[in-house]
Amino acid sequence: MGQWPDRRILDLLGIELPILQAPMSGFSTVEMAVAVSQAGGLGALACAQLSVSQAEDELISFRQSTNRPINLNFFCHRALPANPVAMAAWRKRLRGYFDELGLDPDAEPLAASRLPFDEAYCALVERHRPEIVSFHFGLPQAGLLARVKATGARVLSSATTVAEAVWLEEQGVDAVIAMGAEAGGHRGSFLAQDMNAQPGTFALVPQVADAVRVPVIAAGGIADARGVVAALALGASAVQVGTAFLFCPEAKISDVHRRALDTAADDNTQITNVLTGRPARGLTNRLMREVGPISSLAPAFPTAAGPLAPLKAKAEAAGFGNFSSLWAGQSARLAPHLPAAELTRRMASEALDRLSA
Ligand SMILES: Cc1cc2nc3c(=O)[nH]c(=O)nc-3n(C[C@H](O)[C@H](O)[C@H](O)COP(=O)(O)O)c2cc1C
Repeated sequence: MGQWPDRRILDLLGIELPILQAPMSGFSTVEMAVAVSQAGGLGALACAQLSVSQAEDELISFRQSTNRPINLNFFCHRALPANPVAMAAWRKRLRGYFDELGLDPDAEPLAASRLPFDEAYCALVERHRPEIVSFHFGLPQAGLLARVKATGARVLSSATTVAEAVWLEEQGVDAVIAMGAEAGGHRGSFLAQDMNAQPGTFALVPQVADAVRVPVIAAGGIADARGVVAALALGASAVQVGTAFLFCPEAKISDVHRRALDTAADDNTQITNVLTGRPARGLTNRLMREVGPISSLAPAFPTAAGPLAPLKAKAEAAGFGNFSSLWAGQSARLAPHLPAAELTRRMASEALDRLSA
């Protein structure tokens, strides 16, 4: 077997293959993380929708299954105070859908369930010392970040522009995830506002690699070995792959989402803020078409999702994803539909074959 041209991420994270399974809040599982880490890549546990005790249970279960490194991932958005005016305008915009589905538009919406990294999650990191801690939407405030770093964890975060990558390096991250516009799920953006101006992976990765000294992990649109080789050629030391892992049997995914993924093409995803209040890429559905894809009415992340919950549940029960977050990136169709360990190994071995050909 050939050698990887750039070992920086392998040595930094203590892994054998430059394949990171993307943390995917609500979709990735402990089984997936164990499979990827045991295969030599880096498995991740996404904590944004887990309570501290649920995250702890997942971490313990991971540790009982393998002694390989783990990436514990958190969102670090600012939880804004409730905005009743914005919420009322959003519920008014959705009212027609409640009427159509025979639901009570005045029922109190569920509280949003995505939590930012805080004191309690930080204490969890201090107790369990995951080898890697990654953040989405920037970084937590300096005091919490210093405590994470004091545990010895390697810290990663996503950048969607060169300016975000430079900012992350200045704050002391150990590696930057350069997340191109092709990527599925929430954009990691925290300085960039204009989603129409987001660079694609092919443009972003080499410009980030030129701008920072820390190693770069490419993310967005990488779903097979060709993407891995291209990312390495562009200056990345490793890749982070999300969408391709959604097709693994280890993924936790609704029937509606799974069926929608089977229709995925290069041109049927969009970046939208109407599902959660923050821009994310998913398969185009009715809500995105009729209310978005970007709407100034969507209240702040994650509160936009609250009033959608009953619509989503009712539509899904009837087999429709009209109000669901059908997250997917632009390369979903390239995904080979393999178990997570095999996917990890195959992407790596085919990439090495191509590199040494
Ligand atoms: C379903 C889904 C959920 C995601 N959730 C998270 C998350 O919780 N934390 C995070 O850092 N990134 C999350 N991401 C973004 C990934 O880390 C990664 O940047 C992206 O999947 C790469 O692009 P790809 O989907 O084309 O492989 C998510 C992506 C997807 C597809």
